[in-house]
Amino acid sequence: MGNRELKIQWHYSTLAYSPAFFWDGRSSTLEKQVLVPVIDPIEMHETWKNAITKLKGEEVYNRMFYEAFCTAEYDSTHAAKAITQFELTLVSSNSIYDKAVDRTGNDRNIGPQFGSGEEQISRGFRIFNGEVSKNGGGGDCFHCHSADNMLFTNNGFMNNGLDDNPSEGFFVVTRNERNRGQFKVPTLRNVEHTGPYMHDGRFETLEEVVEFYNSGIRKNSINIEPIMVSGDTANGSGSGIADGLNLTNQEKADLVAFLKALSDSDFLNNKDFSDPN
Ligand code: HEC
Repeated sequence: MGNRELKIQWHYSTLAYSPAFFWDGRSSTLEKQVLVPVIDPIEMHETWKNAITKLKGEEVYNRMFYEAFCTAEYDSTHAAKAITQFELTLVSSNSIYDKAVDRTGNDRNIGPQFGSGEEQISRGFRIFNGEVSKNGGGGDCFHCHSADNMLFTNNGFMNNGLDDNPSEGFFVVTRNERNRGQFKVPTLRNVEHTGPYMHDGRFETLEEVVEFYNSGIRKNSINIEPIMVSGDTANGSGSGIADGLNLTNQEKADLVAFLKALSDSDFLNNKDFSDPN
């Protein structure tokens, strides 16, 4: 993946333009990503030759591939293009958070206004979007999981301080020591349903994730994102999330409530996205 490609794509915010895929960024496009799970030993552990033979045994696929590509001799490249097109239709935009944005806008400083009965979500949003400060109450999540672009990721690769000696991460792709321990900042949309969490699935629940950010960040982790240690020097806060957030139990529960407000049941139950058989 060239730097130029990375930079151009950085400014877009949909899955289509995510600069790289997998937690370590191994695949630079969706079409390349699609090819991997079929042959990966811990995913489908299959060969593409076999997979295509199976597809060709089903008349319905032969017909659809012919309609899409005008050929009976389809292969993994055609399958990858078809799956990619399907993935591009997977847009989640009707969570409680989205509804609040639709009603009231998404002003950069104040965010959307939540409705009555959504006070806890509103408090959680303020923690999520608040700078760490000596007075407490700010979670600093937005620096990496930016709410600005609606995907809750800056599409970057960063080290959020899970371990003193983190595993390779983005280094696998770049072979640059500065990228050791950096992992793709994941979207938080529908995060309530995507556990276990982090690249190695070490946390089962969102409560555990929040407690990690609150009190468990390894400050001396190699290549930890500087803002986690020093805070936002522009606003002079002076201390970062890695010093501990000191959130109260109520504030931790509020933050989890906000994360759950990113669940979109219309998307999750959409029949177009489920098994057609
Ligand atoms: C310095 C950037 C950074 C900051 C600040 C940050 N995160 Fe993360 N977050 C990441 C990265 C990178 C990962 C993925 C790590 C991995 O795969 O091991 C992640 C993973 C997560 C996950 C797991 C998602 C999944 O699907 O596995 C959740 C939930 C999460 N962060 C929530 C938060 C919350 C809440 C805050 C604020 C308290 C926060 N993050 C602050 C960079 C950050």
